[in-house]
Amino acid sequence: MQLHYNVASPFVRKVMAVAIETGQAERLEQVKRLPSPVAPVAELTADNPLGKIPCLVTDDGMTLYDSRVICEYLDSLHHGAKMFPAAGPARWTALRRQALGDGIMDAGILARYETFLRPEGLRWADWIDHQKQKFRRGLDALESEGASLDGVDIGTITIACALGYLDFRYPDEGWRASRPQLAAWLEQFALRPSIATTAPQEVW
Ligand code: BEZ
Repeated sequence: MQLHYNVASPFVRKVMAVAIETGQAERLEQVKRLPSPVAPVAELTADNPLGKIPCLVTDDGMTLYDSRVICEYLDSLHHGAKMFPAAGPARWTALRRQALGDGIMDAGILARYETFLRPEGLRWADWIDHQKQKFRRGLDALESEGASLDGVDIGTITIACALGYLDFRYPDEGWRASRPQLAAWLEQFALRPSIATTAPQEVW
């Protein structure tokens, strides 16, 4: 299978973490892409019209996006412990946590683009501020369930990747100071090879 990817994207990290957790990392041939919202990459838009990573081309020629779909697809291919609980409260909790983690990543990326990509005269301070408020509210919500964050599934993996992205792009945010339970949870969870070996790296 071919994965359009780069090592800065937390959404790609999520896919790689699921691939590692499910013993399938070696099946993914990684093809490096550097798309931005204003500079689509033709080889990527040929497979994903939205021009976004991650995008997976399966062995039988399907193209899959976004990270949620790819992760669920990978989870359907193995017989070990499932990343997507099959049914009941565990499933809804995992999916909600995935949505919260994805939303934190989205807010972090949108605030990052506003400073990194947008020409200085066009930057909108309120936009950046509100994206940051969004991820801070997300962190507060996670702190509230810190003691009950348990297990390894698509929810906890996504949250670890989201927190990793904030540490990568917002090292001065200092989110741990007021969220000790979440910080303690991440410290342990980040020891897992799927997280420890996939830390984001600079690509630009
Ligand atoms: C980043 O450089 O922060 C980034 C790169 C690709 C996707 C998302 C974020």
